[in-house]
Amino acid sequence: MRRLDISTCGAALASLLALAPSPASAFYFPGVAPTSYKTGDAVPLYVNHLTPADSQNDPKLRSVFSFDYYHPPFHFCQPKDGPKYIRESLGSILFGDRIQTSPFELNMGVNETCKPLCEAPYEGKDAAFVNARIFQGYDLNWLIDGLPAAQLLRDPSSDQPFYSPGFALGLMDADTPTLNNHYDIVIDYHEAGPDNLRVVGVLVDPYSMRDSKILGDGKATCGDGQTPLTLNENVNNQVAFTYSVYWRPSPTPFATRWDKYLHVYDPKIHWFSLINSAVIVVFLVGMVSTILVRTLRKDIARYNRLDQFALEDFGENGDVEDGVADDSGWKLVHGDVFRPPKNPLLLSVLVGNGAQLFAMTALTIVFALLGFLSPSNRGALGTVIIIFYTLFGFFGGYVASRTYKFFHGESWKLCFFYTPFALPGLVFATFFLLNLFVWGRGASGAVPFTTMLVVVIIWFIISVPLSFAGSWLGFKQAVIEAPVRTNQIPRQIPPAGGYLRPLPSMALAGVLPFGAIFVELYFIMNSIWFSKVYYMFGFLFICFGLMIITSAAVTVLMIYFLLCAENYHWQWRSFFTAGASAAYVFASCLLYWIKDVSFLSWTSGVVYLGYSALLSSLVFVLTGTIGFFASWLFVLKIYKSIKVD
Ligand SMILES: *[C@@H]1O[C@H](CO)[C@@H](O)[C@H](O)[C@H]1NC(C)=O
Repeated sequence: MRRLDISTCGAALASLLALAPSPASAFYFPGVAPTSYKTGDAVPLYVNHLTPADSQNDPKLRSVFSFDYYHPPFHFCQPKDGPKYIRESLGSILFGDRIQTSPFELNMGVNETCKPLCEAPYEGKDAAFVNARIFQGYDLNWLIDGLPAAQLLRDPSSDQPFYSPGFALGLMDADTPTLNNHYDIVIDYHEAGPDNLRVVGVLVDPYSMRDSKILGDGKATCGDGQTPLTLNENVNNQVAFTYSVYWRPSPTPFATRWDKYLHVYDPKIHWFSLINSAVIVVFLVGMVSTILVRTLRKDIARYNRLDQFALEDFGENGDVEDGVADDSGWKLVHGDVFRPPKNPLLLSVLVGNGAQLFAMTALTIVFALLGFLSPSNRGALGTVIIIFYTLFGFFGGYVASRTYKFFHGESWKLCFFYTPFALPGLVFATFFLLNLFVWGRGASGAVPFTTMLVVVIIWFIISVPLSFAGSWLGFKQAVIEAPVRTNQIPRQIPPAGGYLRPLPSMALAGVLPFGAIFVELYFIMNSIWFSKVYYMFGFLFICFGLMIITSAAVTVLMIYFLLCAENYHWQWRSFFTAGASAAYVFASCLLYWIKDVSFLSWTSGVVYLGYSALLSSLVFVLTGTIGFFASWLFVLKIYKSIKVD
């Protein structure tokens, strides 16, 4: 329950932030078109995968694997001619959906009680399997007319009811797992006109009934719901599955049917904590930039005065050296600051990939903010991410090769080649390896091989050529001119201490961008691991903006101090300084593990750590790129503004 408040709070925030007149119009306008039914029409019920969730008495995550609904040990009843997969978007499959047909027969507006499904045997091993899943708090996920079957929960603070997607496979009755074998399906429908009925809400009340019986002839008797069904792991259990359907007329129109799924727990607290962190971040950045602007103006004025002073008073005496000897700080390194860094190829490839990631993230968030990725558009988020990432391959290649040209790089072929393969290769390798674990576990949440193949083909056919084209264009462009000449002989760098050493500077600077996103990160992790819908894009948009600003500001500040200490190795330093926030992201994943997770198997742990590491690497490349480009602009700007003899 606690989980839900966190992942739902964004709905209201997002609509507030988007200043939308009503959440409905802001979120669902491109959503699915309504399906109209007549009384008695069959309404299909689709089943999706089983996902780990938090149970009422134990809000911890106990597994990261999801299971196909028809995974054999569950013995769930199948349609007569076997289950069939429902067509889904690529994003939907990649994000774990496995939607299939079911044997449930629902007819619009027709109440039915205690309908038989089937009888299923559970032998020792399968009983133990199901009992373990009940202990781990697995949820069933059904879909009726695109709406998730939910449980009705009550907000303890306001006593307001709301719909929480998913319902329990079973419950822990003290220490005994009880399996739910009867479902009360309550469907809200809205009458939009004569013979024009629409599904606007789905609730499922699951019951555990030991004494249910299937009588044949399409009849069954249901138990009383007082004596729960437990699976004995030593004998062969027979379980009868039954369901009832109740149709309730509802005043909710189709357009706002998702509202009750997007409940906000105690919105005030979330709102205040948001404003709090935003104010702190804005304050910090304001401080950083005033210091910077003021100091820089003073520096530039002083340098230019010194130059004049040196020329007018000492120039004729050949005493210029004295004047310059007084110089200290960033001007001194003007002959080295545009010296290419070590490993220019690697840095160029990294910032190229970072730019691609950045463009993809930014445009995805904007799209989401505009309402194109609402939860009613299943899988839209995943699909959009893939499309944008693929298309921005062009941008990534362009940025990588322009940067490489600026660094006077010569291994052009390698630059062309590495750029489209570096980050996608890492992501794909991690994804593939972790999928092996999921396959090994026998869980069916693994991404199907064919889907992986499709992704690889899209990448090879579209993204890689686009990246080559971008690289070619960048290669053809004129090199970005440095405003000052680079000396032949590198300058000695005086030893620097304190916060300017690499590790302390990274630790100091990385915490700020992290501060801007950590609340949001917590929401995102909740939605990933607890399979909750994520839709607080208004908030995400603001956090993303704050993160960009803080990354840029804090890196520029750090690079300024570095240059003042006559250290001109700003290129890698700026990347790592901003990228250091990834270390905090990883640390927060570990903290999340300690606080909210308690795995029963080491494979869950491996998958969790693997995805955390992947997330952190993406954050590293993303923030590092922001830091690098901010510093690049900064360095170009300040060295353009001084007079160099
Ligand atoms: C079906 O059941 C619901 C809930 O119990 C009730 O509100 C509704 O009136 C019933 N419909 C019919 C046609 O009996």
